[in-house]
Amino acid sequence: MSEKRVCVSDFEVEARKVLPKAVYDYYSSGAEEQVTLADNVAAFKRWRLIPRVLRDVSSVDLSVSVLGRKLNMPLCVAATAMQRMAHPDGETATARACRAVGTGMMLSSWATSTIEEVTSAMTSSPGVGGVLWLQLYIYKDRALTLSLIRRAEEAGCEAIFVTVDTPYLGRRLEDMRNCFKLPSHLRLANFSTDSLAFSEGDYGSDSGLAVYVGKAIDPALCWDDITWLKKITHLPVIVKGVLTGEDAARAVDYGVDGILVSNHGARQLDGVPATLDVLEEVVEATKGRCDVYLDGGVRRGTDVLKALALGAKAVFIGRPVLWGLACQGEQGVLAVLQLLKDELKLAMALAGCRSLSEVSRSLVRRVEVTSR
Ligand code: FNR
Repeated sequence: MSEKRVCVSDFEVEARKVLPKAVYDYYSSGAEEQVTLADNVAAFKRWRLIPRVLRDVSSVDLSVSVLGRKLNMPLCVAATAMQRMAHPDGETATARACRAVGTGMMLSSWATSTIEEVTSAMTSSPGVGGVLWLQLYIYKDRALTLSLIRRAEEAGCEAIFVTVDTPYLGRRLEDMRNCFKLPSHLRLANFSTDSLAFSEGDYGSDSGLAVYVGKAIDPALCWDDITWLKKITHLPVIVKGVLTGEDAARAVDYGVDGILVSNHGARQLDGVPATLDVLEEVVEATKGRCDVYLDGGVRRGTDVLKALALGAKAVFIGRPVLWGLACQGEQGVLAVLQLLKDELKLAMALAGCRSLSEVSRSLVRRVEVTSR
C-alpha cells in the first residue's frame, strides 16, 4: 500500500520507484551542473508572503482568463515530451485530468500521442472544461512545421507556444550517460517517418535526443520567424523561453500574444537565473501590452501565489504532472492538479485574497535567505 501523498514531492518519491532509471533521469534532469535546476525551486524561498487579515475569506475565487478562455485556476500544464514513458495513456490521460479540473494543457510537439488523439481525449471526456494549446518546435523543414500548425488548428488547439530556447539541446549529463532514446514500442506520434519520430535508427553513444535535435530542429531561428508564424496562423502566438526584459519588449514589438518566462525547466543553458528572479523585469518591459506567464520550479500553492503577485497571469508546471502520471495515470495527474489547486486556495485565503484581482505586488517581499 502506498503512502498518502500530501505534497508534490511525495509524488516524485513514488514516481522514482516505479519508473525505469533512464526515464526518471530524462524527466528529472537539468543541464550540466544543474545550478539553475536547484535555483528555480530555491527562488521561491527568497520571497515571503505578507498577509492581510479580517477580510472575510469564506469564499475564494481562483478563476482566471487565459488566452481568451476562462479557467478554474491560474495553474496550467507545461509541455513535457514523451508522456507515454510515464504511463501507457500518456498525454491523453493528462488531457482528461486537465479537463476534469478545468485548466489548460500545453501539448508538446514531441508527444507520444497525436494532436488529434489528445484533442479528442480532451473534448470527449467528462469534466468542467479544459483547453489545449500546442507547443511548437520549429523544424528545419518548414512544410513539416506548417503541417503541425494546421493540424493543431483543425483539431481545436487554441494557441501556439513557440519554444525559442532550444536551437540545440542542452547538455543533460544523465541522458548522455544513459544514451537516452525512446523505448522501442514508442514514437513521437506526430511524425510519420522513423527518423522524425525518434524511433529506431542510430543515435550514437550520446543523448539520442541531442542527436535528433541537431538533425531536425532549426538553429537559425530568429525574430523574423515570429513574423512568419504570426502571418501563417490565426491562433495566438506565445513565445516560450524569454528571460530578459529586452527580449520581452522585442517580442511585444513583433506582435506576440503572450510571453512565457521559462528556462525550459533548467534543461537548456545551465547558470541562467531562476525564472522567478526575472519575472518582474519581463512584466515591466511588456508595459501591459501582453500577458506574461511563468514556469520553472513551481511545486506548491504558495509558489503560484508568489508568481502571481510578481505579475504572472498564470503559471505552468512540468515535472509534477509527470510524477502524477507515473504514480497513477489520469487519476495521478488529477490528484497533483487538485492538490496544487487546494494549496493555492488555502494560501489565498490565509493571505486575505478573495480573488486574483486582490493579488498584488504588496503581497510579497524579498528576503535574503542564508539557510532553509
Ligand atoms: C520539458 N520541457 C519542454 N518544453 C518544450 O517547449 N517542449 C518540450 O517538449 C518539453 N519537454 C520537456 C520534457 C521534460 C521531461 C521536462 C521536465 C521539461 C520544458 C517544460 O515545458 C517547462 O518549461 C518546464 O518543465 C517547467 O519546469 P518544471 O515545472 O518542470 O520545474
